[in-house]
Amino acid sequence: MPERNLAVISASRHFGGHKAVDEVSFTMPENSLMAVIGPNGAGKTTLFNLIAGALPPTSGTVQYGGKPIRNPLTACQAGIARTFQNVRLFHEMTVLENILAGMGGQSFWQGSLRLPRSLREDRLRMKRAYYLLEDAGVARLAQTPAEDIPFGQQRLIEIARALAINPTLLLLDEPAAGLNATETIALSALIQRIHQRGISILLVEHDMHLVMHLAQRVLVLDRGRKIADGTPAEVRADPGVRAAYLGKEAHA
Ligand SMILES: Nc1ncnc2c1ncn2[C@@H]1O[C@H](COP(=O)(O)OP(=O)(O)OP(=O)(O)O)[C@@H](O)[C@H]1O
Ligand SMILES: [Mg+2]
Repeated sequence: MPERNLAVISASRHFGGHKAVDEVSFTMPENSLMAVIGPNGAGKTTLFNLIAGALPPTSGTVQYGGKPIRNPLTACQAGIARTFQNVRLFHEMTVLENILAGMGGQSFWQGSLRLPRSLREDRLRMKRAYYLLEDAGVARLAQTPAEDIPFGQQRLIEIARALAINPTLLLLDEPAAGLNATETIALSALIQRIHQRGISILLVEHDMHLVMHLAQRVLVLDRGRKIADGTPAEVRADPGVRAAYLGKEAHA
């Protein structure tokens, strides 16, 4: 089994003449917990889209476990899962159905031929779906339609759904956005539990307290470029990073 390293190699993504991600390189060893920070529009979500195969790079490559990521399917097959900056649950489905849908394959409700093997598989899928919901602290909401769930819990459900594919790398795009203090603590504990199971986590987050508390390493983007890459303490002390954030504030 090749090591599950993420390698972003000179990756760029341009939109017209705009360099949303500009020659970014970094590697992430397996079982890391890393954060990507940067001012609004720095290119964080675009970088995630490159890693998740949702957007092809204009130039450069992304590899995971030594294999190139070309599209969402290769990313998923390689073991990369993600959540979205704007939560994307299937609103008309229950929470449980959202998780089962995240597992892919034959839908639990669809199997027209109830063969013993498929029944056994269905039971296993159910068991795992409940495990994921329990782990995220939302099992009691299993039968509730997703559209009736408060926003903070929708974020947890989205993480549970991402875990349904059994990823080895989880990309979280601003998971704490819109959460209150209690929900953020629950989120932080969940992220730590997931990481302790050996899953690598790459986290885009504006909540600096959460980033400094969780991340082993922090990568800083500004206007598409990587301007720093180090421990939370190193990055916090970096004059270039301070200038990038202060510049944005002064501009605003
Ligand atoms: N599909 C697109 N078409 C054109 N421009 C885009 C597209 N996606 C992103 N951009 C632009 O690329 C730049 C980086 O956007 P991106 O969403 O990656 O930033 P971000 O760091 O995630 O910002 P935020 O903190 O606000 O989420 C922005 O200027 C944005 O307007
Ligand atoms: Mg973003």
